[in-house]
Amino acid sequence: MHRLRPATDADAALLAEVAFAATSGQGRMPAGVDETAWRTEFEGWSRESVADPTTDLAVVEVDGRGAGRLRVSRTADSVELNGIQLHPDIQNRGVGTAIITTLKSEAARRDVPLRLHVERDNPNARRLYDRLGFVRTGGDDKEDVMEWSKAAEQNRLWNAEVAQRYDTPGVGMFAEDVLGPTVERLAGLAGGGRALEFAIGTGRVAVPLSEYGVPVSGIEFSDAMLEQLRTKADADTIPVVTGDMATARVPGEFSLVYLVFNTIANLLTQEEQVACFRNAARHLSPGGRFVIELWVPELRRLPPGTPATVGTADPGYILLDTYDVLKQHVVSHHFHFSEGTEAQLFRTPHRYIWPAELDLMAQLAGFTLESRHADWTTTEFTADSPSHVSVYRLPS
Ligand SMILES: C[S@@+](CC[C@H](N)C(=O)[O-])C[C@H]1O[C@@H](n2cnc3c(N)ncnc32)[C@H](O)[C@@H]1O
Repeated sequence: MHRLRPATDADAALLAEVAFAATSGQGRMPAGVDETAWRTEFEGWSRESVADPTTDLAVVEVDGRGAGRLRVSRTADSVELNGIQLHPDIQNRGVGTAIITTLKSEAARRDVPLRLHVERDNPNARRLYDRLGFVRTGGDDKEDVMEWSKAAEQNRLWNAEVAQRYDTPGVGMFAEDVLGPTVERLAGLAGGGRALEFAIGTGRVAVPLSEYGVPVSGIEFSDAMLEQLRTKADADTIPVVTGDMATARVPGEFSLVYLVFNTIANLLTQEEQVACFRNAARHLSPGGRFVIELWVPELRRLPPGTPATVGTADPGYILLDTYDVLKQHVVSHHFHFSEGTEAQLFRTPHRYIWPAELDLMAQLAGFTLESRHADWTTTEFTADSPSHVSVYRLPS
């Protein structure tokens, strides 16, 4: 467990010790360096940072001991990670990843990118940032500028290859016995008004719902998924705003907002999920409905000490879900096998939500639960239902 606390002048020696140990441990301390002078200079620089109102310098404490330094600047347009260094004693324990994950959540919440500079002679740090989804946006022969944003992350996840494979006409989630009842129920719930789909994707539901006679708009992050939608419906028929369903605004008022196929779980923090409910509410006219289709977390299938479950094990496809029950996170690993021993891996991270927590999020946004069924044909929802269709309603 780590904790961050604001640094003070009294931490200057500690921060110099962390920086010296970390830089030496990476083999990046210049040969023959005068250690005393180096530390004195670093301490002076730390004190300047403490006094600088444009940047936040923090001590990273692990097991109650100061063992790292973090410097972050926050502007209107970005979160800038100016520096993170951990003492070698606490490296490779997930502390750096946890700190960066928290900064990502902050950037996602503020709808700005998280930016950093990484020196070219620091391949370990570069590998970490690559793994955490940062992409190079500039730099020179000494350092790279890298950036992470929620939009870029979703575009990486839902890229052209995934988007091209997404539609399976007549099969699976595109089967008539899935889509028929979905469209009929949504059309009924729209009650003659306009519908807005959050995370509209390739238009699996929006296209047939629009053909059924309901005017549909959408919000979508992925350019590639939207490109596939545009092969089926133009922007006059189904207008789509590119953006985050937790924050983006679509012109007009709607009687129905819907978010299906478990996609609220693509928002990885409770805060963003609550924001998504609030965003649905502000698009709806009085009495409007927000419909969510979501699976019930499968924690009963998780034996103690085993952090993963196998969802499907077909010859050509294996689904493995790995859990972090503290964060309420599950990562679905989809392995698609072709001929031979090669496999393609597609990973989607989720924050799973219990029905009761979902109801509380709805309540925070001013909704009440109108109905909950096990599927689109209004089958009764029971303790054994694997998923649910929940209809939330604003007061008339
Ligand atoms: C499982 S697909 C569902 C697409 C469509 N709703 C359907 O039922 O087929 C998830 C979609 O959510 C989009 N998405 C994920 N997070 C998003 C966000 N925060 N805002 C907007 N779209 C998002 C992805 O780009 C992807 O197209």
